[in-house]
Amino acid sequence: VAWTDAERNAITSVFAKLNPDVVGPNALARCLIVYPWTQRYFSKFGNLYSAETILGNPMVAAHGKVVFGGLEMAVKNLDDIKKTFAPLSELHSEKLHVDPDNFRLLADCLTLVIAGQMGAAFTPEVQAAWQKFLAVVVSALCRQYY
Ligand code: HEM
Repeated sequence: VAWTDAERNAITSVFAKLNPDVVGPNALARCLIVYPWTQRYFSKFGNLYSAETILGNPMVAAHGKVVFGGLEMAVKNLDDIKKTFAPLSELHSEKLHVDPDNFRLLADCLTLVIAGQMGAAFTPEVQAAWQKFLAVVVSALCRQYY
């Protein structure tokens, strides 16, 4: 993937503004609430019975931060996201058996939460760069599926 300087700047500056303790947990919780079938992969997280319990579940919050850490790896390796994510892709495919359609759903939840946090600073240009970044992340996560 080729990035323009403007895209690189947009992606890294969006990322620098985000609070990992809020964005990761809120995006994962939103995904579990809006797309309830994604809950099946997280049975060991305990109580996911309602939006309230999902939002208050410490294991969801903790895992949201782990996902955010994954995004950080991608931001730091913009020129080789595919290789950076090869082990994660293999894990989600071979061990976790996560249906890869779900990656895009979580990516969309991330965008919504980030847009909500950034407000007017999330301009169309910034959004375009950010969506491109997430599309590359999703594609990299899908690489080891066959
Ligand atoms: C684990 C990242 C999407 C289900 C993980 C881990 C990371 C990660 C970094 C920890 C890996 C490790 O322990 O070595 C991401 C990223 C995603 C994504 C960046 C997309 C933006 C999803 C989706 C699902 C999912 C959509 C299911 C609907 C899981 C599960 C685990 C996991 C079940 C193991 C949790 C545990 O045992 O604690 N993911 N993930 N992931 N992911 Fe994902």
